[in-house]
Amino acid sequence: MAHDRSTRRALTGSKRPKVRTVPKPNSVEIRELVPDDYEAVIALWRESEGVTIRDVDQRAPLTAYLIQHRGLSFVAVDAGAIVGSTLCGTDGRRGYLQHVAVAKSHRRLGIASALVDRSVRALAERGIDKCHLMVLADNVAAQAFWKAIGWKERPEIRLMSRTASGVLNA
Ligand SMILES: CC(C)(COP(=O)(O)OP(=O)(O)OC[C@H]1O[C@@H](n2cnc3c(N)ncnc32)[C@H](O)[C@@H]1OP(=O)(O)O)[C@@H](O)C(=O)NCCC(=O)NCCS
Repeated sequence: MAHDRSTRRALTGSKRPKVRTVPKPNSVEIRELVPDDYEAVIALWRESEGVTIRDVDQRAPLTAYLIQHRGLSFVAVDAGAIVGSTLCGTDGRRGYLQHVAVAKSHRRLGIASALVDRSVRALAERGIDKCHLMVLADNVAAQAFWKAIGWKERPEIRLMSRTASGVLNA
């Protein structure tokens, strides 16, 4: 199956021609991430450099998160296999994106751009205009991705965290 330029344009809306040397699958569907996708998305996140797995990514808390924030998280599916994801929620004022990942076999096809766009639009439909995300300081490739799709770095902000439990991997 060949994942051609029209597929990329359909996913991203981009009209820019792109030469691809590696044959790609031709049908990538984007749909909501649901609790039954757990095994597939955890496998994707585990193999994705730059994605940190924490206790909160176990099945029960992740299922609760998806139910609480229904309609905001998405997966990209190619021939029945999950090849990309966004995990998105809101505190009612801002949106928060996590675990944006695309399988190595499917990168640079516009899949992450399309997934992020779906989450951002779903937030906007709920009246949430602004969305934040965290990216590891040494994840230079991801920072290039976010900037390429129009996200602004916030060097004036330092993230501070603490856990009530004291568990380091919470
Ligand atoms: C970052 C990541 C999600 C991008 O997914 P993707 O589907 O390949 O991204 P897209 O195809 O939508 O890329 C859109 C644009 O972003 C930029 N971009 C994407 N990946 C890039 C990279 N590795 N280096 C530089 N720029 C990049 C390019 O401008 C690209 O457009 P182009 O292909 O026409 O040049 C993917 O590389 C990934 O899963 N990385 C590992 C997990 C990770 O780091 N996630 C982010 C955590 S914050």
